[in-house]
Amino acid sequence: ISRKGSQLVRKHREQKERKKAQHKHWELAGTKLGDIMGIKKTEEEEPGGKAVGEDGKVDYKADQKFADHMKEKSEASSDFAKKKSLLEQRQYLPIFAVRQQLLNIIRDNSIVIVVGETGSGKTTQLTQYLHEDGYTRYGMVGCTQPRRVAAMSVAKRVSEEIGSNLGEEVGYAIRFEDCTSESTMIKYMTDGILLRESLRESDLDHYSAVIMDEAHERSLNTDVLFGLLREVVSRRNDLKLIVTSATMDSDKFAAFFGNVPIFHIPGRTFPVDILFSKTPQEDYVEAAVKQALQIHLSGMVGDILIFMPGQEDIEVTSDQIVERLGELDNAPPLAVLPIYSQLPSDLQAKIFQKAPDGVRKCIVATNIAETSLTVDGIMFVVDSGYCKLKVFNPRIGMDALQVYPISQANANQRSGRAGRTGPGQCYRLYTQSAYKNEMLTTTIPEIQRTNLANVVLLLKSLGVQDLLLFHFMDPPPEDNMLNSMYQLWILGALDNTGESVNLNNGSTISLTGREEESDQVREKFSVPESDHLTYLNVYNQWKNNNYSSIWCNDHFIHTKAMRKVREVRSQLKDIMVQQKMNLVSCGSDWDVIRKCICAAYFHQAAKLKGIGEYVNVRTGMPCHLHPTSSLFGMGYTPDYIIYHELVMTTKEYMQCVTAVDGEWLAELGPMFYSVKQAGRSRQENRRRAKDEITNMEEEMAMAQEQLRTRREEQ
Ligand code: CDP
Ligand code: MG
Repeated sequence: ISRKGSQLVRKHREQKERKKAQHKHWELAGTKLGDIMGIKKTEEEEPGGKAVGEDGKVDYKADQKFADHMKEKSEASSDFAKKKSLLEQRQYLPIFAVRQQLLNIIRDNSIVIVVGETGSGKTTQLTQYLHEDGYTRYGMVGCTQPRRVAAMSVAKRVSEEIGSNLGEEVGYAIRFEDCTSESTMIKYMTDGILLRESLRESDLDHYSAVIMDEAHERSLNTDVLFGLLREVVSRRNDLKLIVTSATMDSDKFAAFFGNVPIFHIPGRTFPVDILFSKTPQEDYVEAAVKQALQIHLSGMVGDILIFMPGQEDIEVTSDQIVERLGELDNAPPLAVLPIYSQLPSDLQAKIFQKAPDGVRKCIVATNIAETSLTVDGIMFVVDSGYCKLKVFNPRIGMDALQVYPISQANANQRSGRAGRTGPGQCYRLYTQSAYKNEMLTTTIPEIQRTNLANVVLLLKSLGVQDLLLFHFMDPPPEDNMLNSMYQLWILGALDNTGESVNLNNGSTISLTGREEESDQVREKFSVPESDHLTYLNVYNQWKNNNYSSIWCNDHFIHTKAMRKVREVRSQLKDIMVQQKMNLVSCGSDWDVIRKCICAAYFHQAAKLKGIGEYVNVRTGMPCHLHPTSSLFGMGYTPDYIIYHELVMTTKEYMQCVTAVDGEWLAELGPMFYSVKQAGRSRQENRRRAKDEITNMEEEMAMAQEQLRTRREEQ
């Protein structure tokens, strides 16, 4: 046993000694679990009481007996899902007990707020109830989700419950993927999809009912939909709107929609012991790994759910757990299952599958598992206390996805996951004082913290005249709104009257799957002056090889990602045809493409300062080439580059970079750059930028005034 291993073994022993108290606790858990699942408790001696011998030493045999006892119980409970038919499972959900009351209140009201614990059956059952009650006879029942993963996995589950193939009666739609058909009656989708549909069909005539699920998440799209749907319902009295929430924001929702009724689904939850960390943790990944192993090696039965902020932390945590477990002799088996939105869907589905007998599941998730996805059988939650949030960063003038402490509401949702099938435990890797004094009660809605360019453009396309008067539940700061309008104006998407311009920019190249290539392949396909072109190169070579998956495998390229690229490409092409844009190939002149990319990204430009060191042209902020970039370490360092995104880790890194001509910047972004700009100081630049905003505001105000007078004259 290595030193590391022996430390863990020591911990294992300590943990065993601490088990006496927990035995009692878990026996109780087992009993309740058995009772509630209709499994009769067999006449057995109290196993917990005998685990520790008179002399205080662990009596291994009694311990083993306890473990067997708990194993039986856990098998009984996991067999539950197998043995019970899907129908029986449906009838077991808390929402089933109130089915008729719920349908009555929906019948009597246009808008209803439905509140219920996570796992009570809101997402999977409400759509089916409405279908069974006849609502799908004159339209679809739509259900929006803030996350793609949830939309897909729930649609799959509901299609199984209904007994049809996914994409037929029950389907889903997410960006770049429409899995619905003519026969679809129940449609799950991201809230972004419904927003886009409202562009084409402002009264949403295809729907007889819309369920806005997970409203407590307050995603940007949900908040915009709130305002839009309120209007749609007032125009269409045959449309039902149901807003669901897992938390206490319901009063606010009810007030917003005009004092509509709130329906509470009675919960069925078990107590959860909350254990705070005594001291602040320096490294939440390390702390979580240790905690998970401790639980696992303690012999206590039940699956583990670990909350981490994002993909990278999830990967490290998962690897670490597997690695450290591998260093132990005879460690019980553990299935470590990561889940985050970018994970391929077949791997995502694994978290719902039953683990083989005697194998414990340990799910490592982002806040996707807070309320969107319910996994049965979780008894332990390990909460890092962090999540990733998109926040507008004025310093870089754009949104950045960064790690932030969660809110108290998040923390409570997370711990609640441990009490669904029996009493549970939640290990919070932060102190009680941090929870009380440092965490916000609820998370600030996305609309109040991010760039609103897309929202502004969308609302403008919908004909919303004065954005500052749009009915938001929590209006965004006026500055954010103006800033976003300014950005759109710069890009030419809004004209001087503040109206949206028909965008005729057909040169978009969409590239995904870039994480998938290995370094080796990167070099092989590398186009020295551009990451974007490197991806294009990969795509073209794949195309030359008849889109072959063998070719992909040979080159360490993810076939699925490439197929997605191809799909996106064809959808973009469809859009161009629809919009009657010219499809012209650039042939081998790839400079044209670089210039196109520059046309869209000139506001994200950087200028060479030293070796591998750049400064943002507008703000002077230092930023660095990401090591995965084709431009990195190639000895080729162009004077000017534009970047696709900034990631902040230890430094500010530019990811996905393309070399551009300084003159293009001046030509394509004249409001920012001019050729003579070199001598100007940063302060001057800032002053100029401020002047620009003032100019835009004045111009827009003037133009709007003119428009108004003209309308009045007419
Ligand atoms: O929306 P809510 O949190 O109220 O519950 P739900 O998502 O409708 O989940 C109800 C039950 O359906 C869960 O407890 C799971 O047992 C099951 N479910 C599943 O097995 N697979 C899914 N993809 C989603 C739900
Ligand atoms: Mg749900």
